[in-house]
Amino acid sequence: MEKKQTAKVGLMGFGTVGTGVVRIIQGHQEDLQKQTGLGIEVHKILVQDPGKSRSIDSMKHIITSNPNDLLDDPEIDIIVEVIGGISPAKEYILAALERGKHVVTANKDLMALHGGEILQKAQEKGCDVFYEASVAGGIPILRALVEGFSSDRITKMMGIVNGTTNYILTKMSQEGADYGEVLKEAQALGYAEADPTSDVEGFDAARKMAILATLGFRVPMKLEDVDVKGISQVSKEDIAYGKKLGYEVKLLGIARRDGEAIEVSVQPTMLPKSHPLASVNGVFNAVYVHGEAVGETMFYGPGAGELPTATAVVSDLVTVVKNMKLGVSGRGMVAPYKEKILKEDSEKFSKYFLRIIVADKRGVLAQITQLLADKNISLVQVLQQPYNGGTQAEIILVTHLAAKCDMENVLKHMQEMEIVHEVKSCYRVEGGDSE
Ligand code: NAP
Ligand code: HSE
Repeated sequence: MEKKQTAKVGLMGFGTVGTGVVRIIQGHQEDLQKQTGLGIEVHKILVQDPGKSRSIDSMKHIITSNPNDLLDDPEIDIIVEVIGGISPAKEYILAALERGKHVVTANKDLMALHGGEILQKAQEKGCDVFYEASVAGGIPILRALVEGFSSDRITKMMGIVNGTTNYILTKMSQEGADYGEVLKEAQALGYAEADPTSDVEGFDAARKMAILATLGFRVPMKLEDVDVKGISQVSKEDIAYGKKLGYEVKLLGIARRDGEAIEVSVQPTMLPKSHPLASVNGVFNAVYVHGEAVGETMFYGPGAGELPTATAVVSDLVTVVKNMKLGVSGRGMVAPYKEKILKEDSEKFSKYFLRIIVADKRGVLAQITQLLADKNISLVQVLQQPYNGGTQAEIILVTHLAAKCDMENVLKHMQEMEIVHEVKSCYRVEGGDSE
């Protein structure tokens, strides 16, 4: 039998990431061949609109809008899915696996929701499925969790894992920029999802945190296990007051394990300026990982964009091709093997930043602090200043650690108090001395 010289790739999607994949495969061909022992060739490309003009013109002859041109081509060994979304990406991936083709994808929506089913099909068929680009773009964090930390027990992961929202928050903080305008910039730069709601409302980060928690804690975390709040309500005023008190606002994912109980959340969070994650700016992502044995580690890099994301996709391709050569395809995956125990709200502790508008009367601050004291919540910082031309007052409070359910109770009570005219904002505060 003739010896295989080239691994042939069917590329599904030729947008931001797909274009980067072609550029890297073409530009790094010699290195890829030296590492894998095979050439890597993009054999066919699936798109939605074959008539669209593309920044790489030389691939025109292999572009199709018929998925079966890739799925039914016996020469194609590997499908790279960079279409995004659930359908038809899921159907195409399952069909590729059914036909014995390996899969590389950048699709966190799909892997967070249907990863279990896809990995099971891959195992049945002896195929590889890798999805490094699905979390934190160019940072090889999934490989680090699965391989680098395989000997340790991870207790905490904190991540800035959405480039679009970090880009927006950075511009709002550093330039006082307008939210809507910066979102448009992030879309033009290819960072945002086709529907940017999933970026700004925190769902994209939540999917990534579900993937990180599944791999890091070895439990089958689901998207609905993640508490999610996005950045659409974050105002310039919140950012300015945060700064005044020494904080930056970041959309932060936290996955924490205490004993066997786990909590995972994504929400805008105040971080002390001295915290390493507070200086992660623009489209950059970072993931902090704490392991029982290793202690603290941190991974930093570009979280989105054409070439950074494509490096992760092509590195997965390299692994697939190496496995093909070694005849060990489909054997590298370890399914989550631990029972999932989720914390109750009474077991989730955090510090909080509150901004409230109150009546400017004697004793108001005392009533607010009493309400907090009744729930055993003590204060770290208090700032009060006139509001609305002095007819009202604005109070900013930062608490010590409080249980999530106690803080929710406090907020409910505040909304019923006559002296409280509006609860403007409530953010989690992470990092600092008391943890
Ligand atoms: P994109 O620029 O919107 O490109 C999507 C591509 O898929 C386009 O080429 C489009 O065809 C094609 N497509 C869409 N629907 C299709 C369908 N029904 N059938 C066939 N082809 C279809 O998206 P992207 O930014 O490259 O993102 C791709 C994936 O990577 C997503 O899962 C995303 O979450 C993930 N990701 C993106 C980044 C990033 O920085 N952009 C980073 C990490 C992960 P046309 O070209 O004809 O429209
Ligand atoms: N929209 C995503 C982000 C792309 O902004 O992080 C990378 O997954």
